[in-house]
Amino acid sequence: MMRARGTSLRLFYIALTLSSVAWAADFANGQTSPAHDGPPLAATPGAEPPPLRSVMAKHFLVGTAIEPDSIDSPADAALLAAQFSSLTAENKMKPGTIGVAEGRYDFEPADKIIAFAHAHGMAVRGHTLVWHFQSGNWKEAPDWFFAGARDEPQYRDIVAARLRKYVTDVVTHFRGKVYAWDVVNEVISDNSNQVYREDSPWYRAFGKDYIAIAFRAARAADPDVKLYINEYNTDDPNKREKLLTVIRELRAEGVSIDGVGHQMHISVNRPPLANIKQALDDVAALGLENQVTELDVSLYADSGECWRNPHACLPDLGRSVPNDVMRAQALRYRAVFDVFEHEPSIKAVTFWGYSDKHTWLSSTPVSRTNLPLLFDADLRPKAAYWTIVDPAYQP
Ligand code: XIL
Repeated sequence: MMRARGTSLRLFYIALTLSSVAWAADFANGQTSPAHDGPPLAATPGAEPPPLRSVMAKHFLVGTAIEPDSIDSPADAALLAAQFSSLTAENKMKPGTIGVAEGRYDFEPADKIIAFAHAHGMAVRGHTLVWHFQSGNWKEAPDWFFAGARDEPQYRDIVAARLRKYVTDVVTHFRGKVYAWDVVNEVISDNSNQVYREDSPWYRAFGKDYIAIAFRAARAADPDVKLYINEYNTDDPNKREKLLTVIRELRAEGVSIDGVGHQMHISVNRPPLANIKQALDDVAALGLENQVTELDVSLYADSGECWRNPHACLPDLGRSVPNDVMRAQALRYRAVFDVFEHEPSIKAVTFWGYSDKHTWLSSTPVSRTNLPLLFDADLRPKAAYWTIVDPAYQP
């Protein structure tokens, strides 16, 4: 069995190498755009990439977020099974997919991801039970949760009951199949005058209590699953202080919480490594676990303002991204892994995707070329990949 898997993997990488050679010939003939990181890749011709999951096994699980269509592509499926020890559903375990209507659920796409993961010895982390996100067709806090008259005395209880039922049913469905849940996602405010995110339909219906309700229901439905609070920009000391205060308060109320998920959407030169390390240390000091849940390294060192105002985002690098930028990205990946590998409280590091052919950063916060992941659009390992699996590698 193992031998068969090894052989098919080797064939897979030989095919990739051959396609790289063909591609390089095309490039020489001027038929394609310049290499994104040609020189670094040329440094390891034909080498079979060592599986990330084995290289990191002594430290933590290594995961990626996926959509179910990745499983349908044999090349993608082989790469996933070879490289990763954990999977997250990029979208299909969010309430916008699962919570079709009150008491009606669509578990099918998530179950497909879980079946694939388990068939290949991978763990699955659940993301996410509660999220405020709403944009275009994406509604992660579906309207049915909030139906009814807000001025009725029963309104709060009705919405609380719906939330409890949703969390209970979903956690029960995945019990024993998912080892950790992001119970709530992005509940802390970025505004200096707010602790909790107040522009959330959950906050508007309840104030902060929805967080404790969700955690308690999740714990009651599965006593063994790890329960996480997931957040972005935890490297920012002000935001982190709010997050830690919220965690302390929840624990003081007897709410069971196991860890903090740090999304870690970072860029080639932001934020400082010391801030990343401090975020992990502060959580560990509370006796909690850490997970890096959505790692990617954007090519753009945007200011925070870019997320509020698209005009503040850096201009599109276009199709020919300079090799220097790709080198900087590779070194950045090595630098953050140096931090992660020295933090025993980290239980898993999950990338928000695996191939540059599919990344939320090509459309968010603005549409532009972005190549934030470890494998290029043709699934070839990038310099970023080699620096992680081989610290001696010089991009
Ligand atoms: C993103 C997905 O990648 C997109 O496909 C979707 O349109 C929106 O959500 N923080 C999170 C993730 O917690 O769930 C988000 O995923 C990225 C930011």
